[in-house]
Amino acid sequence: MSHQLVIILDFGGQYNQLIARRVRECGVYCEVKPCTTPLERLKALEPIGIIFTGGPSSVYAPGSPQVDPAIFDWGIPILGICYGCQLMAHSLGGRVTAAQSDSAREYGKTETFYDTACKLFQGLPEKGISWMSHGDYMERVPEGFSLAAHSEACPNVAICDESRGFYGVQFHPEVNHTEMGTAMIRNFLYEICKAAGDWSMESYKDTAVRRIREKVGSGKVLLALSGGVDSSVAAALVAEAVGNQLTCVFVDHGLMRLHEGDEVEQAFGKWDINFVRVNAEELFLSKLSGVSEPEAKRKIIGEEFIRVFEQEAKRIGQVDYLVQGTIYPDVIESGTGDAAVIKSHHNVGGLPDYVDFKEIVEPLRMLFKDEVRQLGRDLGLPEYLVSRQPFPGPGLAIRIIGDITKEKLDLLRLADFIFRDEIAKAHLEGSMDQYFAVLTNLRSVGVMGDGRTYDYAIALRSVTTSDFMTADWTRIPYEVLDRVSVRIVNEVPHINRVLYDITSKPPATVEFE
Ligand code: XMP
Repeated sequence: MSHQLVIILDFGGQYNQLIARRVRECGVYCEVKPCTTPLERLKALEPIGIIFTGGPSSVYAPGSPQVDPAIFDWGIPILGICYGCQLMAHSLGGRVTAAQSDSAREYGKTETFYDTACKLFQGLPEKGISWMSHGDYMERVPEGFSLAAHSEACPNVAICDESRGFYGVQFHPEVNHTEMGTAMIRNFLYEICKAAGDWSMESYKDTAVRRIREKVGSGKVLLALSGGVDSSVAAALVAEAVGNQLTCVFVDHGLMRLHEGDEVEQAFGKWDINFVRVNAEELFLSKLSGVSEPEAKRKIIGEEFIRVFEQEAKRIGQVDYLVQGTIYPDVIESGTGDAAVIKSHHNVGGLPDYVDFKEIVEPLRMLFKDEVRQLGRDLGLPEYLVSRQPFPGPGLAIRIIGDITKEKLDLLRLADFIFRDEIAKAHLEGSMDQYFAVLTNLRSVGVMGDGRTYDYAIALRSVTTSDFMTADWTRIPYEVLDRVSVRIVNEVPHINRVLYDITSKPPATVEFE
């Protein structure tokens, strides 16, 4: 590709993806590589700069990750963050030790003073909060380096050797808690690495379309469309590239949200592709009939999904390529290896085993979620599709506690729509990462008009999270909850009670089943 590259050398820190996202946000393409990548391979990639990430080890501990010291003779700018900073200092003859006192060991938000004559801090205020998380201390900085930032407890919060283009910070500029952190990364990229800023989704789209055409030739391409962001954007990109050589199979299991199936179908109307919507609601509902155990539901849905998809694939005949919507966080999480990692469980368990094809195409493999969304917009997908919140593969089946019927699905769809509608009207979407309604199997007594009711309770769930591994429940304003509750009880039959789930994950999970 014709854009510049920054390499993020991964020493196992917890914010590595965040560093990569920040760099990309600054308009510069970057890739995360394992710290064990041989120097020659790094050089062959011709990067314009390198960032050493943080990491959990101490540089002086036996077996701690190191770099080939020849990297410092390469003549390329390097920014070391936290462990990366200590590694740079250690490798270049400085001295790093365990902090002797609690005051030298810094965690959390720390008032930091910057030397704005240093290019890394150029144009920034002289003082700001930075996010520290280090137990080691640079007792002696290497020769040629000067101090570029300090805090009350620590004289060398940042070091630099501007003549060689080496910079190190003990704090984490990539996290939001560090004020002006992105500006520092931008300075590294533009002032120090002299980046051109040639990374944008618009240019990515053109290159990706060209590459897909080159790879696929006149071959037949198959894609399992779930309606989620990743598979939809992958489908739109491949549609743009090879048009009707692509067949999208959209298995509508009848467990989608209100109008979702039609919306997905409509979104692809503008491309001349083969769009196969398999309306399998009856099949899924009959298989799920009377089943109330959560794992059993998931298993049935997973198996049926594959069966239906396989049937369609057989009908289509031999395909050459199968498209998967794997995105960069999946790749990084599976170890930043360069080897082709095939995420076979991408919403549809184990597809590659069931479909006969020559090769997998993963056109989003190097993109972060926000980039995938932007690409979707650039391709002309509607906003409701690209900004869609995550939705589980088994759909509403795991949001109905107990057995599933068409009537219950219809109630839930309506309640869920009202909840989402009120959140949109209150402009609260940005403060929550996933929000939905759940149909509980709790029935309770209520009163409506003059009569007694004995109906179901709807539970509302909303979480705020960065990774879905842990999550906090969202503090939705009472007035909004009130409007949702009033509307659900008035507009959805057989619901006489609305509950709001105020449990975090852990101990609860995001979904109820
Ligand atoms: P839990 O309930 O495990 O959910 O806290 C975490 C995130 O994963 C989503 N989720 C799924 N996504 N297939 C999916 O594609 C599934 O079977 C599945 N189960 C949970 C859930 O919606 C949340 O975003």
